[in-house]
Formats: sequence, C-alpha cells, structure tokens
Amino acid sequence: MKYALFFAFAFIAAIHPLRAQNNPDNARAVSDNSAAIVQNITARMELNLDGRWNYLVDPYENGFYDYRHQPYDQSASGTGGFFDDKKQTDKGQLIEYDFDRSPTLKVPGDWNSQDDKLLYYEGTVWYRRVFQLPKHPRRRYFLYFGAVNYEAHIYLNGKKLGMHKGGFTPFQFEITDKLREGDNSLIVKADNTRHKDEIPTVNTDWWNYGGITRDVYIASTPETFISDYQLQLKKADPNTLEGYVQLSGGALAQTVNIDINEANIHTTAQTDATGRARITIPVKKLTRWSPENPKLYSTTIKCTTDEVRDDIGFRTIEVKGLDILLNGKPTFLRGISIHDENPLIQGRNRSEGDLRMLLTWAKELGCNYVRLAHYPHNETMIRLADEMGLMVWAEVPVYWTISWTNPDTYANAEKQLSDLINRDRNRAAVIIWSIGNETPLSEPRLDFMSRLAAKAHQLDNTRLVSAALEVHRKGNEAIVDDPLGAHLDLVSFNEYAGWYWGDKLTDLPNYHFSVKYDRPVVITEFGGDALAGFHADPDTRWSEEYQEALYNNQIKMLSGISALRGMTPWILCDFRSPRRQHPVYQNFWNRKGLISEQGVKKKAFFTLKSFYDAIAKKYDGL
Ligand code: GCU
Repeated sequence: MKYALFFAFAFIAAIHPLRAQNNPDNARAVSDNSAAIVQNITARMELNLDGRWNYLVDPYENGFYDYRHQPYDQSASGTGGFFDDKKQTDKGQLIEYDFDRSPTLKVPGDWNSQDDKLLYYEGTVWYRRVFQLPKHPRRRYFLYFGAVNYEAHIYLNGKKLGMHKGGFTPFQFEITDKLREGDNSLIVKADNTRHKDEIPTVNTDWWNYGGITRDVYIASTPETFISDYQLQLKKADPNTLEGYVQLSGGALAQTVNIDINEANIHTTAQTDATGRARITIPVKKLTRWSPENPKLYSTTIKCTTDEVRDDIGFRTIEVKGLDILLNGKPTFLRGISIHDENPLIQGRNRSEGDLRMLLTWAKELGCNYVRLAHYPHNETMIRLADEMGLMVWAEVPVYWTISWTNPDTYANAEKQLSDLINRDRNRAAVIIWSIGNETPLSEPRLDFMSRLAAKAHQLDNTRLVSAALEVHRKGNEAIVDDPLGAHLDLVSFNEYAGWYWGDKLTDLPNYHFSVKYDRPVVITEFGGDALAGFHADPDTRWSEEYQEALYNNQIKMLSGISALRGMTPWILCDFRSPRRQHPVYQNFWNRKGLISEQGVKKKAFFTLKSFYDAIAKKYDGL
C-alpha cells in the first residue's frame, strides 16, 4: 500500500511539473520558435490564403486558457482550446464557439478599420481559414505570414506549429508532414495587447492595429532548395559583386550557378557540407541602381535540385567625410517619413495599390528617399521602392522607453532587426538600417543600442547604420552629443523647433546646431500639425499657413548645418494616433501630414517640393 501511494505521488509529481510550468505568465514566455526566413519566399508561392477568414473576438483568451487560466495547448492532451476547430455535432459534448457561423475579416488587414466595434480593441482575436492543398511527394511546404500584430500562436489541424512575436516581420513554419488530404484547418490567435517588455513597448504615437496585417500563403520548394542568398556590390568597390548562397535540405554539397544574362555575367560556385557557398564576381559593365535610373537585373540562382529568380539592383552606398556617396557620387537624401497606413481606408495598407499610392505621392513631392517609420514595412513596399527609384531608411520599433535591462527584450529587438535585414538584404533601395527612435539616454540604453548597432554592421557590411538620436537645447543652440552617435554612420535626430519647442517661427533661422560627430547629418523628423482646409494667419497653430511658415523657417534653419545631407520631415500623410485627443484639430489623428486623410495636399507640401526641386538641380543636375 505504502509503495502504491508513493508511486501514485511520483506519477502525479511527474505530470504536475508540466502543469506547474504551465502558469499563464509562462504561456507568454513561450519563445518565438519561427524558423529563419526563406529568402524571396514570394517566388515560391503555391497557395495564396489571403481573403476572408472567420474570426472570434476573445478578450479573456477563453479559447487559450481554461477556467483555471491554464493554457490548453500546453496541457497533457494539448486540446480544448479554440484551435481544436470543433463543431457542435456530437450531441453530448458542449462546444461554445463555431467558426463556420462566425463573421469574417479581410486578410491581409487590421481588425480595427474593418469593424467600428474593434476600432479601439486590444486583445485576442482568433482567425480560421480552411484550405485544400494536394501534396506533391518530393516537395516541402512552408506556411508564411508577412506579419501578424503582435503575438501570434499558429495551429494547423489542431496541432500547434508555434508562436511568433513582433507585429512587422515575416515568419514561417514548415508544414510538409502536417498537411492532410481534403480540408486543412488553419487557426491563428492574434493578440495585440501591449506589454512593457516588448518591442515596441506600451507607449507609441501610432495606432496599435491588430491582426493578420500582411499576406498569408503556402510556399513549396524541392527537398533541397536555395533557402538564402545575397548578391550586392562590395562596400566601396563597384567592380566586385559579393555574397553567398545557402542551401537547405539533404543534398547540401552542390554546384550553384549565378546568371545575370543581361549583363553577361555567369559564374559557378561549390556549396560546402553546410550548404553554403561564398560568391565573388568581378564585374565591369553593370548599370548601377539609382533613383534617377532604378535599374534591376533579372538574376537566376540555380543548383541541381532548385532554381530561384530575383530582380536585383546593384549600387554602392558609403560615407566619406561629411558626404553620403551613392555609386561614388555625393548625394542629398530628399526624403519624407511614412507610416504603413493608408489614410483613405484609415487602416494598415492592404494591397500593392495602397503602397504604390504612398510612394507615388513621395515622388510627386520630389523625393529620392523615404524613411519607413518606425517598424519594418511590407516587403512589397521595399520592392516598389527598388522599382520606382526611392532610397529607403528601414527601422525596427525600438521606440522611446524600452526595457533596456531585460535580456528577453534585447533578444526580441535583435531578432526583429535580423529578420528585417535578412528579408531585404538584396534590395538596392535600402541604404540605411535604423536601430531605433528617440531612445532616452542611460548606460543600459547605450549598451543595448550599441550592441544592436554592432549586430546590424555584422549582418550587413554593405549599408549604413543609424538611429534617431537624442538632441538637447541651450537657448537657441541645439546640441547633438548623444554617445550612441559614436556607433553609427550618420548623425540623425528629430527636432521640433516651431512646434513642441514652442518657438516663434521667425526665430528658427537664428538657431545653431552643434553636432559632436564629423559625419553627414540626416534630419529624421521635423514638422507641425495642420488641419487640412483650416486657413488663418501664419502665427495661428493648426492652420495650413502656420505649417507652411514652419517649413519655410525650418528649411532656412537646417540649411545652416554645413553637414546637412538629407531629411525626412514628419510626415507624408496624417495618421491615426491614440495620443491625439484634440476634438477639433486632431480627433485621434496626428495632423503633421503634408497630405490629409482625404488625400488633400496641404500648402506645406508645395513648400517642401520647391525646396527639393532646387536641391535636385544642385546635386543631380535634374
Ligand atoms: C516623435 C516621434 C513620432 C511622433 C512625432 C510627433 O518624434 O518619433 O513617432 O509621431 O514625434 O510627435 O508627431
């Protein structure tokens, strides 16, 4: 008897550590187990899963935790949650949800702009999509998400594939052995609840759009395939193409061929036992990519078992003294900041058309450069910038008051940075990786940010690394001596003279900037709010005339900085923000756009355009 009891306890103890482990807070600590990004996975698309998905709003995460707040998917049976996709068929069992009879949401798309009841909603929404995909025996299958904000738990046919954190970076799971004949049930738990230790943290000046905000599809590849590659001009060496090819699968040692027919470039290399080959190609006659001539070359990478094609532009970007050299020539970055939001649908961009509209407006403004703030934008946006000839500042949402001393927070930031760089490493348009925005000075912050800067340089030595640094003021002197500047290739900072700094606009030209670092200065933000159609004298805030005068005086002031080599005023379009409560002038919109949410260009749009037209003449003889 005694032994029986002992074994009973031992057995229960054996189970319960699982349970103990499964405390709800731990559920959030479950790590992001999504695999490394497959390069150019769009070229492998087999089945597009965009469209209408059934959904369930679940503010209490009732479909994830049982009434003891234990996560179902970590219980011994791993069942019981909404991911089971059960239907009320069997008389006995009680099923208190039914995706089939639930409403639908568009994917890609945030939920906030699709249902007024969800405009302010932060929490969990369950999505379900049923699909059929006959499997080919010698193919591998990957389920790909362009982005889900913020924390996603993914289930296929009731089985958990994994979890991903980060609302703006892609992730995928291999599902080759999880697909079944007939109907497959794909369920996503998307939770956009903000948390202090996450990236971004709890306070931002943009709308926390939730949901499956970018494309979802199934990609397929041969058993051994080209999972990653990079091909770019060597830093400061326009006569050498450099990069690598990485295979994934059983047959890792192969010959790979790289062909750029139009440039008569043909080379081969051998992958080693790990499936990797370094590539170095001497090149003579290669048209360099530039905003004036955004030349992309059709490039094919082939091995015995696989072939992938990509359109790649080749250019060099470097800093020399106070100059930024594009293809060896000094350039001025005529830019504008952009959020990933279509003001006309008042939500996250959903289609290529939305993205092309924003970049077309930027081109109309006279831009050759855009700052995609404050997080990785859609891959399609970067490919459009490649095609349309716009240089890009790409950023990760290390924004304001991050938990600098939390190692999980750092790991999360570094993962988002790595995913961004890995996704866009072949895009000529991207010239700058930004590791963050307006992060307050402290030793832990400097440690965190300088490690991120080192990571970016380590992952990609062909581009510049920067961030929006801190700036402080003494009277009419603005001082930029943020210690993080020493780790970056450019001096970039936001300054709101004439708006938050409460100055008289006409004082601005008397301002003096003292910058500690001898590097090109690229202003990441300046601006002021204007309600489109509200007209008054230039001293009346919120009027178009005030914004116009602010731009005129800002341009005079900034032209006084001898190292000024670029700017991205804040911002192309008015955008939704939970921090803008003025009932008349804002109504939850940040009105610093040069274009209103109806697509109306404000007076300052033309002020900036004429400045850029003059700069274009000076720099590019345009
Ligand atoms: C900040 C910040 C932006 C914000 C802007 C503003 O500098 O970087 O995200 O929207 O200022 O206040 O309008």
